[in-house]
Amino acid sequence: MDKHSVYRTNVIGAGEVGSAITVDMDKSSIHKTNSSFWDTKGNDVLGATALPLYGAFVSEEKCQLFGDVSGKKVLEIGCGSGHSLQYLGERQASELWGTDISEKQIEKTTQLLTSNGLSAKLICSPMEEACGIPEDYFDFVYSVYAIGWTTDLEGTFSMIASYLKKDGAFIFSWSHPIHKCVVAENDMLVFKKCYFDESWYSVSLGDSTLSLSDRKLSTYVNALSKAGFVIEEMIEQSDEEIMQSQNSDFAKKAKMLPVTFVIKARKL
Ligand SMILES: C[S@@+](CC[C@H](N)C(=O)[O-])C[C@H]1O[C@@H](n2cnc3c(N)ncnc32)[C@H](O)[C@@H]1O
Repeated sequence: MDKHSVYRTNVIGAGEVGSAITVDMDKSSIHKTNSSFWDTKGNDVLGATALPLYGAFVSEEKCQLFGDVSGKKVLEIGCGSGHSLQYLGERQASELWGTDISEKQIEKTTQLLTSNGLSAKLICSPMEEACGIPEDYFDFVYSVYAIGWTTDLEGTFSMIASYLKKDGAFIFSWSHPIHKCVVAENDMLVFKKCYFDESWYSVSLGDSTLSLSDRKLSTYVNALSKAGFVIEEMIEQSDEEIMQSQNSDFAKKAKMLPVTFVIKARKL
């Protein structure tokens, strides 16, 4: 870690993490930290990040951003446990592809798909790097809670655009940056972090560490535009039924502000 590190408040998943430490953005050390986190912790820690859920309170069942995927070629960036690929495979997508930085996550996906009679082309690689994915090939490229891990958002969006056919759709979800700034304290929501702060930080979860940055919504929108996408739909609203089914502080927070955002963009 950078010797000039600064302790500060941050929010991971549902709660405040007090020991977030600002670090330099160094691509290889961030990849090392994060692949080791995902190799050991997998999806056990963060939860709710596979289709039909886009995050804790947004569901594909309600939003229908994919629509009918039968006969469509789909690629998941950061395929994690493989549950999202399974969801689309069971809905007759013609080709399933996935990439992930973690060998263990790729193994998990392989096992899950095989045990459900599905198969996919899986590649272990950081999303920022070229890894032999075909260009002008996919109807959908998507990512559920993985895009934000990239150390190069503009480069990643531009590579994703290259994988899509013309008029193909890119759908992704991530933590809403407002959620990452606000914490619940004494029955109040309190702004604890600057919305404009996009610096990288490391945080300890149990005996593991992960590194990330909270980008502004405008950073995502402008990077999409630069990569040749037009935004078709954006979702910030928490789903009423899902919130009502959970009597948690997180659900109370999700009533007041967006905790997840989802964007559907089209390649021009
Ligand atoms: C929250 S999980 C995604 C879960 C996934 N949607 C599912 O259906 O299980 C985030 C994934 O992103 C992967 N990841 C993190 N940094 C990455 C990077 N730079 N390039 C590619 N994958 C990365 C992690 O290994 C992890 O599997």
